[in-house]
Amino acid sequence: MTPQLLSAPDPEPERKVLDFPLPPPGSMGPPAEYRRLRQECPLAKVRLPMGATAWYITRYDDVREMIADSRLIRPSINDWPPRPDRAVVDDKPGLITMMEMDGPQHAALRRALAEPFSVRSIRRRLPRIRRSADRLLDAFADGDRPGDLVAGFLEPFPLLVMCDLVGIPYEDREYFLPMADAALGALITLEDGRRATRWLREYISAQLDRKQREPDDDMLTELVRECGRGTLDDESVVNFGLSMLVAGYRTSTMFLADAVVALLTGPGQYARLRDDRDLMPKAVEELLRYVPVQNGVVVLQAVEDIELHGRTIRAGDAVLPVLAAANRDESVFDDADWLDLCRADNPHLVFGRGAHNCIGSHLARAQMTVGLEALLDRFPDLRITDGREPAWDDASPIKSPLTLTVHW
Ligand code: HEM
Repeated sequence: MTPQLLSAPDPEPERKVLDFPLPPPGSMGPPAEYRRLRQECPLAKVRLPMGATAWYITRYDDVREMIADSRLIRPSINDWPPRPDRAVVDDKPGLITMMEMDGPQHAALRRALAEPFSVRSIRRRLPRIRRSADRLLDAFADGDRPGDLVAGFLEPFPLLVMCDLVGIPYEDREYFLPMADAALGALITLEDGRRATRWLREYISAQLDRKQREPDDDMLTELVRECGRGTLDDESVVNFGLSMLVAGYRTSTMFLADAVVALLTGPGQYARLRDDRDLMPKAVEELLRYVPVQNGVVVLQAVEDIELHGRTIRAGDAVLPVLAAANRDESVFDDADWLDLCRADNPHLVFGRGAHNCIGSHLARAQMTVGLEALLDRFPDLRITDGREPAWDDASPIKSPLTLTVHW
């Protein structure tokens, strides 16, 4: 059973609890505090916007170790963030994704997914991914000028690619997107979260029934076959489907959108990549390192006491390894705050490490590469419309533009 999060009294009340660091309003960040925290307080206690506290880890070496440490588990989204109404306990299945799975069940699912998510399989799909990008950009170019690139391309593209690969009907997005948001939203009541979780499970189960009746060339069909062979159980496949609905596209959207903002606002960066496509592989790795989306989005929970930098993380405490802070650690990356599209040595941690590292990393890289190539080809003179700075959600720690108004 998951230990009750954050219920124990703070054993170190004399130490300062910081407010959750946020990027400067109206920008993608990163929060200015990261540099100071890395230098002076690498294990800091922070108060999150919803009132709970957690340990914040900002140094590269610590994040690298902690994210792969088996003494830290991933609490279910239903257990995090803690909500005032969490006293209402029931034992209905929660929103279990791959991240909360463990042991042989998790290992079997990872094995079944290794081939379809491999570099080789994703490479085979590149022409298809490019066609999806071009189709969306055709429609965008036919629309009004200026246009919102977030709504027209940066949001739909990763969703379309994921749906096509996994076998979730893209046409159903109006139905499942609000539910996925409700299940993930921090401000919802537990009751709303439960209802959304139930709908999502029913939706994925219905998709699996359909794959059994009408097999297709996609991942869900292949996983249903694996169930038939007895190598996977139904529950694991449902969990995979839920993982795709809540984690299989939105991170890519945010990274791609921030990457485009970084290229368009960094002096000469967009033109540089447009004119030297050989830079693309290094540029993609550098953009993944540089754009600070992951401000404490991986939530871990200690299952035993852990000593770090002379302090004790108690069993049950929440721990946030801040990937965006680790990726700007100047002890690992020269000129860490500089977007260097030619950076050669780039051991960033953007896809995590260990048993739960990102299984979609090759797909994410392909989406960013193909998405940028399609944009550079179609709109060589793309620019942010004068006087229409990107809009950001300043209250959210996860930064990507809500709108990006562009001319071409
Ligand atoms: C730029 C885009 C992406 C980034 C930066 C990213 C990052 C991450 C990170 C850091 C984790 C590890 C979380 C942890 O340790 O708890 C993770 C896990 C995961 N990611 Fe991604 N991701 C991206 C795109 C994708 C895509 C496109 C897919 C699939 C379509 C995907 C599927 C998953 C899944 C299923 C897991 C859980 C794996 C497990 O628990 O075994 N991700 N991702």
